[in-house]
This record gives sequence, structure tokens and C-alpha cells, in this order.
Amino acid sequence: MTGVSPVSVSFRTYVPHDYDQLIRLWEEAGLPYKSAGRDRKDRIEQELLHGVGRIILAESQGVLVGAVLATHDGRKGWINRLAVLPRRRRSGIGRLLVEEAEAWLASRGIEIFTCLIETYNDPSMAFFGKLGYIRHDDIMYFSKRLHDDV
Ligand SMILES: CC(C)(COP(=O)(O)OP(=O)(O)OC[C@H]1O[C@@H](n2cnc3c(N)ncnc32)[C@H](O)[C@@H]1OP(=O)(O)O)[C@@H](O)C(=O)NCCC(=O)NCCS
Repeated sequence: MTGVSPVSVSFRTYVPHDYDQLIRLWEEAGLPYKSAGRDRKDRIEQELLHGVGRIILAESQGVLVGAVLATHDGRKGWINRLAVLPRRRRSGIGRLLVEEAEAWLASRGIEIFTCLIETYNDPSMAFFGKLGYIRHDDIMYFSKRLHDDV
């Protein structure tokens, strides 16, 4: 059960023309992103062209109110860059975006959905917990980067 009527929010797939408003949404939402790395416009477009990712936008009366990037590596699905405008939070938009992302991943045969959350992000941890995601305190995230802003 969500607080959003299907009439007030609609979902569609990102197109390159949406890049600037997507960045504005991430900024307003306080979402950290890699403007010179994997979130650069051309990098995102290349990623989407490979067919392993989809950005879903949530709009209300022509205004972008939320977005999520769903990706998979053929093995696991990842929920990335989930953001909802601060003034539109707690009305079910985040949940609907994740459900859209999960449905897209499932349509590609993916049966495990995952996300990485910074330890300071208590609201996001509460959100994903509410949506049935299980926290794994026995796993540490390791990465190796070819440069700092990747
Ligand atoms: C996380 C985020 C996307 C949630 O979006 P949202 O639209 O507010 O989420 P929903 O309204 O669908 O919330 C669904 C449920 O999650 C839980 N939840 C959501 N935000 C919460 C918060 N701040 N504190 C505690 N629980 C929360 C609630 O149980 C909520 O249901 P309820 O409102 O009926 O109690 C939003 O807070 C956001 O954009 N945060 C900044 C960006 C970010 O941190 N993204 C995630 C990166 S990992």
C-alpha cells in the first residue's frame, strides 16, 4: 500500500535529453554521484546502450520527482542512484521506483536485488529494510579503482 495515486505519478524510461534534470534531481536529493566518472552523460549513455541498465523516472504533472538506475551483471541486480525530491518523500514514490526497477530486472531473469548503502544513511537503510531487503553485517565492500573519480 502506498500513498501515491497512479494518476499523480507516472513512470517512464530515461532518454539522453533528461540528463540535466536528472542531475538537478540528484543535487536536490543530496545524492552523491560521480559527475566526472560513471555518471558523466556519455558514460551513462554507453551503459544504457549495452542493455544492462535502465533509468526509470517518476514524474508528477510534468515535474521529475524521483529516479532510479537499475543495473545487472547477468548475475545480480543492483538498485543505484535512487532519489526522490525531499518535498515528495514519504508518499510511496521511492517504493514504486524500486518495484519498477525490480520488475525490469526480473524480466531479464535476475532473481536477486541488491544495493549498497553508506553507513551514515539511516533513512535509506530504513527504507530498504521496509521493502524486504536484508542487511548483511558480515560483508565488507571492497573496490579497486583505476582513478579517483571513476
Ligand atoms: C531513500 C528515499 C529514496 C526514499 O524515498 P521515499 O519516496 O521517501 O520512500 P517511500 O515513501 O516509498 O517509503 C517507503 C517506506 O520506507 C520507509 N522510509 C522511507 N523513508 C524513511 C525515513 N526517512 N526514515 C524511516 N523510514 C523511512 C517507511 O517505512 C516508508 O513507508 P511509510 O512512509 O508508509 O512509513 C529518499 O529518502 C531519498 O531520496 N533519499 C536521499 C537519496 C538517497 O539516500 N538514496 C538512496 C541511496 S542508497
